[in-house]
Amino acid sequence: MVRKLVAANWKMNKTVVEAAAITETFARKVDAHRDVDVVICPPFLALPKVRELLKHTHVEVGGQDVFWVASGAFTGRISSPMLYGVGAKFCIVGHSETRGRFGKLEIPEDLLGHFCETNETVRLKIRALLDCEIKPILCVGETLDEREAGETDSVIGVQLSEALAGFAGAELDGLVVAYEPVWAIGTGKTCDSAEANRVCSMVRDEVNKLFAEEGGVHGLRVLYGGSVKASNAKELFSQPGIDGGLVGGASLDPQEFVDIVTAADMANLQ
Ligand code: PGA
Repeated sequence: MVRKLVAANWKMNKTVVEAAAITETFARKVDAHRDVDVVICPPFLALPKVRELLKHTHVEVGGQDVFWVASGAFTGRISSPMLYGVGAKFCIVGHSETRGRFGKLEIPEDLLGHFCETNETVRLKIRALLDCEIKPILCVGETLDEREAGETDSVIGVQLSEALAGFAGAELDGLVVAYEPVWAIGTGKTCDSAEANRVCSMVRDEVNKLFAEEGGVHGLRVLYGGSVKASNAKELFSQPGIDGGLVGGASLDPQEFVDIVTAADMANLQ
């Protein structure tokens, strides 16, 4: 069995001072759970401070996004060498918010260009991260319309095959994929644990099938994300196909996040 991984995605929340305060509280409480891998992905500005405060713990830090070119005239972007330089060990790519799906729901069409990540740009980002020895946390998932049309598995299959095209299986050792049904993110609607388990297992099979000639991807972990909280974490993490969680809103409360890590630790013992 692989070690469980719990990743926090703070999104665009917390100033550096606020981030430091919650990290200090979390750092004091997380030490009892060294059997669970934990990563915090704060806003870029808070990354160095959060890392410094976690340096005596087993908790790693990660980016929430990355641009695929190493440097140049790309106003506002952050590159993979920059993330490496502040000690990021992981980075989220292909989140539904950067894919623009929330944009489609919540902002006018003419602003969509700010987001609109595609499977091709996700692939380029994965390449850039691997070149700096940063592990991608590749997010995949279907919208409610896609689920209702019975397209969940095929949509995710395409997201995986296009984002992972052209890599060697060995390069992807330790890859993390997060199954995040778009309709469950930030909505309080969690995917039923049996269905989350089914889709996470399907994701694992699909990834291993893509690299079957090389014996699959070693150390692959498939997380569930979408309204994970302390009250549902144990049920989700005890599913055999779910290797941990990607946690948004609930990770901003240090006690709630410790409780979620504790649930992963208990699932480890099962
Ligand atoms: P949520 O977000 O836990 O607030 O639903 C999860 C995510 O977007 O990664």
